[in-house]
Amino acid sequence: MDKGKKVIFSAVQPSGALTLGNYLGAVKNWIDFQDKYKCIFALADLHTITVRQNPEEFHKNTIELYALFLACGVDPDKSTFFIQSHVHTHSELAWILNCYTQFGELSRMTQFKDKSRKYSGNINVGLFTYPSLMAADILLYNADLIPVGEDQRQHVELTRDIAQRFNSIYGQTFTLPESFIPKAGARVMSLQKPDSKMSKSDENANASVFLLDRPEDILKKFKRAVTDSNSEVRFNHEQKTGINNLINIYSAVTDKTIDEVEKEFEGRGYGTFKTSVAQAVIEKLRPIQDEFKKYMSDIVYLEEKYKKADKTALEISEEVLNEVKKKVGFVI
Ligand code: TYM
Repeated sequence: MDKGKKVIFSAVQPSGALTLGNYLGAVKNWIDFQDKYKCIFALADLHTITVRQNPEEFHKNTIELYALFLACGVDPDKSTFFIQSHVHTHSELAWILNCYTQFGELSRMTQFKDKSRKYSGNINVGLFTYPSLMAADILLYNADLIPVGEDQRQHVELTRDIAQRFNSIYGQTFTLPESFIPKAGARVMSLQKPDSKMSKSDENANASVFLLDRPEDILKKFKRAVTDSNSEVRFNHEQKTGINNLINIYSAVTDKTIDEVEKEFEGRGYGTFKTSVAQAVIEKLRPIQDEFKKYMSDIVYLEEKYKKADKTALEISEEVLNEVKKKVGFVI
């Protein structure tokens, strides 16, 4: 691979329709990296089965998400965009890294604690060791930068710790990655409960905006967004409020600063602002939705693109895996 360029790695789980949070926190930034860096992106389907999936839906979500990413601007001829479970090095390195990750470290992961509460009937071992699989994803490509939303920061930090530990035992092997977290959009909150993040699996249909939502539904969701009893469109630095979330979304979608947003809506009230946010989101998503339909009508094209990327990902990652195995002392 091109050794001169920085390597970007990121992934998203095909665990349901993509939310505006996934888009603004992660995917939108992937696109911007493609011209400057060596980009490797994946659908992290091995991560998805840490929560029980309906097989037909899981299968359908994976294909649809592949198409949706292309529609968002991931260019399969510029970036390597593959499916994690197709590249066996990921589960193999994950096992090895499990042996260099401490029980205590994994127990401290906020996402593990949250998901254990949410899926209390299925706190499986995969859910617990999920961060070592994520570390494998990143370290297999010696990635420098990891564009993610705020909720993944802790996992990237753990990846650094694991890499550092391995390097200090066996000598320089892995590049230490850094997360890239956008200024606006890093933490898009639920429209109904602005103190929790917008999530694919929220039971309240009005809480999350999905990339494939119809314009009329997007408008309805923003109009119903929970705010407060004030009426001025001002970012409140002391409190987490619904209006902060809407300002953040508008800023991320329009690339305007928070100051600019406040000025634009001075004296105009929450109602007008909510409609403007909805319209900006609808306009941002319209071309993505059109492109998505085109890609979904050509499954052969999608297959051709992910198979090519699977092969490239395997070639790159096998080299790293072999080096790791040699250093650990496996007979290879
Ligand atoms: P996942 O699928 O939960 O989320 C995908 C990306 O979307 C970001 N995100 C958000 N950003 C802003 N606001 C929100 N409300 C919001 N919700 C989600 C996430 O931070 C993420 O960047 N473990 C990862 C997938 C993964 C991965 C990796 C990522 C697997 N291996 C290696 C980076 C590198 C996950 O479950 O993301």
